[in-house]
Amino acid sequence: MSLINENKERDKWSSKIGFILAAAGSAVGLGNLWKFPYSVGSNGGGAFVMIYFIFLFVIGFPLMLAAITLGRKTQLSAVGAYRSIKKKWAFVGGLGVVCGFFILAFYSTVGGWVIYYFVKALKGGLAIKDPEVLGSIFGGFISSPVESILYQGIFLVLTLAIVLRGISGGIEKASKIMMPALFVMIFLISIRSITLPGASEGIKFFLVPDFSKINMNVIMNALGQVFFSLSIGMGVMVTYGSYLDKDSNILGPSAYIPMLDTAVAIIAGLATLPAVFALGFKASSGPGLMFVTLPAVFASMPFGKVFCFLFFMLVLFAALTSSISMLEVCVSYFVDEKGANRIKASIIISMIIYLVGMPASLSMGPWKDVHILGNLNFFDFYDKLTSNILLTSGGLLLSIFVGWVWGADNAVKEIELRGVKFRLAPVWKFLIKYVVPPAVFIILINSLKELIMAIL
Ligand code: PFF
Repeated sequence: MSLINENKERDKWSSKIGFILAAAGSAVGLGNLWKFPYSVGSNGGGAFVMIYFIFLFVIGFPLMLAAITLGRKTQLSAVGAYRSIKKKWAFVGGLGVVCGFFILAFYSTVGGWVIYYFVKALKGGLAIKDPEVLGSIFGGFISSPVESILYQGIFLVLTLAIVLRGISGGIEKASKIMMPALFVMIFLISIRSITLPGASEGIKFFLVPDFSKINMNVIMNALGQVFFSLSIGMGVMVTYGSYLDKDSNILGPSAYIPMLDTAVAIIAGLATLPAVFALGFKASSGPGLMFVTLPAVFASMPFGKVFCFLFFMLVLFAALTSSISMLEVCVSYFVDEKGANRIKASIIISMIIYLVGMPASLSMGPWKDVHILGNLNFFDFYDKLTSNILLTSGGLLLSIFVGWVWGADNAVKEIELRGVKFRLAPVWKFLIKYVVPPAVFIILINSLKELIMAIL
């Protein structure tokens, strides 16, 4: 029996550009601005970027189109979308809801750090050149249980405030303001960074691949990054696609979203790594790159205070347009499937995410050594579980579902509705049926092996 609330009209995107900005908003986030530059830094520079690009074309683009097509076809969020085509597959949508829930649990920890830094930059409190001092500020903040949980809460309240307002009035409106602002800011910062004397070393490191650096780890990380960065494998794009009406052409957006996402990741790399090199810092400084090295970089350049403030505002916008998509996947499940009231569902789910997310914040401080599985603390466990296992499984199952269960031919029919011509259909069908499933499967097995080793 369908529990869908049939009396109420389902909310929709009010314009095509609104949808593109919201979906690109989901994709562009901490994954691009925080994770990508330091992953490039610690995975061998250009070699990582090159593999990232291969996966983007062979796996990322085809899956993006598959997800949006499935959503628009069924006009249902993740669980309903799978179920309405094949009942037994509803669990894949469920997997997505669980994944969104756990990503937001630890994403909100980092979101909280961003708010703290944004406020600090606004007050001019980050104009410090010495990375040691910045390191101790960062360490002191993230290990303080009260402060980090407080800021995590503020981040979740902001996320909630947008999702409460629904699709066209909340998510779309917020994305239409924040995304263009983000593009302008990142453009300004990258110009600043590239024109610093000595920046060419960083550009070289970023763009010239050193093939000897490629190993299974680099490959696994690159694929994980593609899934995480594009927000695929957890039902966000299925859900966002479901708010499109049948008249909209989905081919364009399915190409623009990954392109915008990749452009921002590359520009973020170009905005940070050359400056890091130009000012004599280390590119491989890991997750602290954004919070420790970058403020020092800004403090060492003319108009640094302004750029620092702009930068953290940009990161905050990017993080929020992503976190709302994770919350939306969870909320839309209860609204579409259980007939729940959006406002009530959003509030209750955010509160539960906050509770489950608090240990992630605590594991940077007092709960550092509280291991939930093997040697993984809460933060690492949520991260590994989602980025390496759930997202990849979700992507694998999505490709099998669209390629084989629903059928690639049926999907092409949906894409070609209203006279749209999909010229690359044979290539897409081949990729989604024969290339994506085995490729993702092999990498998933390796990630599982890795996780089991971490536990033992
Ligand atoms: N794509 C987002 C980022 O790069 O930060 C993170 C993300 C959002 C991952 C939504 C997964 C997701 F479903």
